[in-house]
Amino acid sequence: MKSARVRERMAALGALVSERLALVAAHSRPDVLYDPVRYVLAGGGKRLRPVLLLLSAEMYGASREDALPAALAVEVSHNWALVHDDIMDAAATRRGRASVHVRWDANTALLCGDVLLGLAYGQLQRARRVQLPALVGAFTRMTRALCEGQALDMQFESRTDVTIPHYLDMIDLKTGALIGTALQMGAITGDAPPKECATMHRAGLALGRAFQIKDDLLDLVAVDGRWGKAIGGDLIEGKKTFLLLEALSRARGADLEFFRRIGPGGGISPDEIQRARRRMERLGVLDYARKSVAHYTSRAIEQVRTLTRPSDVLVGIMRDMAARVH
Ligand code: IPE
Ligand code: IPE
Ligand code: MG
Ligand code: MG
Ligand code: MG
Repeated sequence: MKSARVRERMAALGALVSERLALVAAHSRPDVLYDPVRYVLAGGGKRLRPVLLLLSAEMYGASREDALPAALAVEVSHNWALVHDDIMDAAATRRGRASVHVRWDANTALLCGDVLLGLAYGQLQRARRVQLPALVGAFTRMTRALCEGQALDMQFESRTDVTIPHYLDMIDLKTGALIGTALQMGAITGDAPPKECATMHRAGLALGRAFQIKDDLLDLVAVDGRWGKAIGGDLIEGKKTFLLLEALSRARGADLEFFRRIGPGGGISPDEIQRARRRMERLGVLDYARKSVAHYTSRAIEQVRTLTRPSDVLVGIMRDMAARVH
């Protein structure tokens, strides 16, 4: 399917999700809790996970209204994870605006995330009753996986023995679980056979790998104003990203010394970001990251193609996600 047509579908579904999200906490009180919630939910974002869920549900013939509760639950949950992630990563900007813990404070951001998770379950509960046990089961497993991944991500900052296989296991949890579960929940909503629901989940795990590696890459190279996060934030914070781990395994001599400084106790200073980028470029790290994004995207698409009625739009979105610039 033509990419312009795919983007049109994504934009239309994303707009519908944003419209419904605006109603989630519109009149909730007290403001001290819900103003930050409304700030987060109205802050934009690509709405990729709910769009994936809606398309997966559509593939199996579910109505839009039947699929929306799970789609909203997934996006609200993603926003919960981002609010807490910004505290953990000491990230001051999100979606081009101050993060909640900066605009308000850390305690407000903790509660904002907590209540977002409650609101996510509240949305999910509106799904069709016969599907609730399967949906709640998948959603709860995903929530645990995401936290497990985030815990490993934090622990990795102070470890010096992290390898790419460790990293892949960690991102399958922190990122793949939510994307895989979104696709799986869409299939559940459409009463798909269990085998197809499992294939959707597997496709989402591969897509999640492509997505997180691309996120790590864009963290250093994004030029699009819509990126909305600080460039080089991962290197400043000392995160064990795909780029840093690859650089550490390829570097020798002065390069190795340079990248080894990004480790326990923090990363490099902002004025060293461009130097780090040039070293990575020279070592072939950035090219390899691009190839890896393409590799895992193809793996996800292969999975989708094994389904009884693979959707062209879904495949188109997966390609579009790999090509994204923000
Ligand atoms: C950011 O996700 C968190 C990651 C898993 C890398 P998105 O890039 O989907 O964030 P928004 O929702 O579009 O802002
Ligand atoms: C986030 O990974 C994964 C989550 C579960 C939120 P990152 O920490 O790389 O996400 P960004 O770059 O801050 O959006
Ligand atoms: Mg993080
Ligand atoms: Mg982060
Ligand atoms: Mg990131």
